[in-house]
Amino acid sequence: MKAVVWTKYGSPDGLKLAEIEKPIPEADEILVKVHATTVTAGDCEMRRLQLPLMLSFPMRAFTGLIRPKRISILGQELAGEVVAIGDKVTSYKVGDQVFGTTGFKFGAYAEYICLPAEPGDAQGVSAAKPENLTYEEAAAVPTGGLEAMHYMQRADIKPGKKVLIIGGGGSIGTYSIQLAKTFGAEVTAVDSTEKLALMRSLGAAHVIDYTIEDYTKNDETYDLIIDVVGKHSVVRRLKLLKENGLYFLAFARPSHILLSIWTSLTSQKRVKIESASQQKDDLLKLNDLIVSGKVKSIIDRVFPLDQVPEAHKYVESGGKMGNVCIKVESAEEVA
Ligand SMILES: NC(=O)c1ccc[n+]([C@@H]2O[C@H](COP(=O)([O-])OP(=O)(O)OC[C@H]3O[C@@H](n4cnc5c(N)ncnc54)[C@H](OP(=O)(O)O)[C@@H]3O)[C@@H](O)[C@H]2O)c1
Repeated sequence: MKAVVWTKYGSPDGLKLAEIEKPIPEADEILVKVHATTVTAGDCEMRRLQLPLMLSFPMRAFTGLIRPKRISILGQELAGEVVAIGDKVTSYKVGDQVFGTTGFKFGAYAEYICLPAEPGDAQGVSAAKPENLTYEEAAAVPTGGLEAMHYMQRADIKPGKKVLIIGGGGSIGTYSIQLAKTFGAEVTAVDSTEKLALMRSLGAAHVIDYTIEDYTKNDETYDLIIDVVGKHSVVRRLKLLKENGLYFLAFARPSHILLSIWTSLTSQKRVKIESASQQKDDLLKLNDLIVSGKVKSIIDRVFPLDQVPEAHKYVESGGKMGNVCIKVESAEEVA
């Protein structure tokens, strides 16, 4: 089968289209023919692996010190069709359309992938694909959507709550705006000029252009802050959080970990650096919200599998609206 193999840390040029062995499902796995996957900011960060030493060393110890070894294919989310099932699998049948995430196992830049039929200790979770979405739209849901669902549930978002989303026009951000709005919150979303109209259309009551306004000087306070950027002083943004409020950071830096500990010792505010635990129930909840028209995927561009390096360059260039997808067609489909 065709796959895009991750051959080195650093530039997108280390992502090479190659012919590799098609995987065979274990007894508790499904074999999925991948129709679409995505390129997320997380895939690009993983590929570069330019992290602070404290984070880079454990990551390299896991993936390979000099070059990637344990993970040889990137891509964390996908939509496709079940083409084979292991002997013990009862929850899927051949022909089912599914969407899901591979978790930290990655591997979705490929024509086929094995996923656990039921989430357990193994990485990855899948569920029936929302029937009203294309494969590309469905592939974009699992990582950003599960992350957004995790934040809403942890903060118990309900009518009357105020939510600030920093980076509202990206992957996690576009799902977070829609979920917060659906759960009844008043949403303020921050991103660049081109994304203000999109964020409004998704349900943000207030939008802020970070390129022209320093919103940390505003007097408004929030029950939940979702910060997928975390580049600038989080301390300044903390004053926007209500007492007892929750501040979620999607991107961990050593200073954020110290800030989280310090804040919990000195105030009622809580700073959390968490990733969603991958729950099938949450994927099914997202499916319901999508089918009922309350949540949708925003797709910026779709690239073919052989242009994964170009897709990585595009995502890294900034300005992406929502998600960037990869359409995976087998040789027979292309012919
Ligand atoms: N995707 C996931 O499921 C997932 C899961 C766990 C953790 N994470 C981590 O979370 C982070 C974000 O992920 P993502 O997929 O949502 O990224 P993304 O799609 O690139 O979204 C980030 C958004 O932030 C905007 N932005 C940049 N600087 C900003 C600023 N100073 N103020 C406000 N907005 C700003 C970007 O807009 P411009 O480009 O126009 O500036 C972009 O729209 C990544 O570090 C990733 O590793 C992601």
